[in-house]
Amino acid sequence: MTEPVSITFHATDIDAIAEAKGCVAILVDDEGKLDQAGRRVNRLTRGALERLVGSDGFGKKKPGEASVLDWPVGMAAEKVAVVSLPKKATVDEARKAGAAIARALGGDGALVLAGGHRHAAEVALGIALRAYEFDAQKTKKADPKGEVRVMVKDAEATAEAAKPLLAAAEGVFFTRDLVSEPANVLTTDEFARRLTDMERLGLKVEVLEEADLEKLGMNALLAVGMASVMPSKVVVMQWNGGGDEQPLALVGKGVVFDTGGISLKPAAGMEEMTMDMGGAGVVAGVMRTLALRKAKANVVGLVGLVENTVAGNAQRPGDVVKSMKGDTIEVINTDAEGRLVLSDVLWYAQDRFKPVGMIDLATLTGAMIIALGHETAGVFSNDDTLCGQLLDAARAEGEGAWRLPMGQVYDDQLKSRIADMKNVGGRPAGSITAAQFLKRFVKDETPWCHIDIAGVALKSSDSPLSPKGATGWGVLTLDRLVKDGYEG
Ligand code: BES
Ligand code: MN
Ligand code: ZN
Repeated sequence: MTEPVSITFHATDIDAIAEAKGCVAILVDDEGKLDQAGRRVNRLTRGALERLVGSDGFGKKKPGEASVLDWPVGMAAEKVAVVSLPKKATVDEARKAGAAIARALGGDGALVLAGGHRHAAEVALGIALRAYEFDAQKTKKADPKGEVRVMVKDAEATAEAAKPLLAAAEGVFFTRDLVSEPANVLTTDEFARRLTDMERLGLKVEVLEEADLEKLGMNALLAVGMASVMPSKVVVMQWNGGGDEQPLALVGKGVVFDTGGISLKPAAGMEEMTMDMGGAGVVAGVMRTLALRKAKANVVGLVGLVENTVAGNAQRPGDVVKSMKGDTIEVINTDAEGRLVLSDVLWYAQDRFKPVGMIDLATLTGAMIIALGHETAGVFSNDDTLCGQLLDAARAEGEGAWRLPMGQVYDDQLKSRIADMKNVGGRPAGSITAAQFLKRFVKDETPWCHIDIAGVALKSSDSPLSPKGATGWGVLTLDRLVKDGYEG
């Protein structure tokens, strides 16, 4: 697994500044008044810091943005990153400040002078998240990043506050790695192995194999994986950190590669479908975080792992399959496979765990990208309370999420002439009809949210807290949801 850069917290030691190598980062508030460490940097650089902070350019910096002084005289450092961060900065701004520092981070590491900033731990999270680099498939590995030392007024309290945040960063990294791996590496077997490996962290992990899934009647899921040489699996991860209450269930779509099946996708861009296990990746990342920070909650994560491909025994358009619930589905388009996988896993999750709430994540529809682009995930729900909690958590974590409507008229689009339903509802409102399909496998008494992460799981350009590629969108949000709604 890609490990986050090492970050430690220390009492401020002014005399260490001159000798620090690599990057020295200093937080400067909106008044531009230098603290003791700032005054030392200013003295060492013979006034350069004060001139920079007083300049028009620095005055125009947004909270969390940085100016860099290269090769400062009087210091051993390569650069001084001067980060604008008001005392009352938000969590999001503090993380962006960390991201700015991460971008200046090289092999000699960084010394971050955080003074008494109340969000120093969030700055550390920002550094960790932005410093991610996926190099597992490169023979020439990424240049190692040096250690990050954060000097702050109350080092002990900040270190304590940073612990759960750095656990979240590890969860995000786990998700990003899974999403980044190609399908010939992250096979269903390898995926299950990486999840089973988390037993070390105190999670209970079970792998249901094809024979088990057949016994359970998960024919919709099995039909998707039928043509693949990779065995289909469902992996169940339990974190029991709470009391004897029923768990919250997280369900993820884990299509390790989606060719579209017989309804084959066009060649251009098909390589991206290695990320079609993104929902399962997020569920795995959240479970990892909960275990690492020993969350006081009961949460169960379930992922359906399959490959959707072509062969003589592939399911074909027009086939009818019987789901575990018992409903029959006419498969109009074999490329609408995610909902087939989820239908059985959602039903199994409720049947076995009677969860207090259920949230599924899936790279479910291309239509989601058309509707909301790459910044905002689509949320669908049968329960205003759970949905409100989820949207609040997403807002607090700075992850875009927006609720879309559901309703009978959309469900009507799924009527089939020969079976209980068909698996596609036509082009209009494609993301909503997909959600309606899932809703047919959610019991009325189960509060449920579906999050379509097709647009946000993978990005072709950098964003503040993640370099281009897999984002890990959702790990922070769901971790916060558990923290705020299901602990203590
Ligand atoms: N995995 C895709 C959705 C997707 C597309 C995710 C682009 C990420 C980026 C999904 O299985 C799919 O193929 N959906 C179809 C549904 C259609 C056949 C109703 C789609 O969106 O075209
Ligand atoms: Mn598909
Ligand atoms: Zn898919």
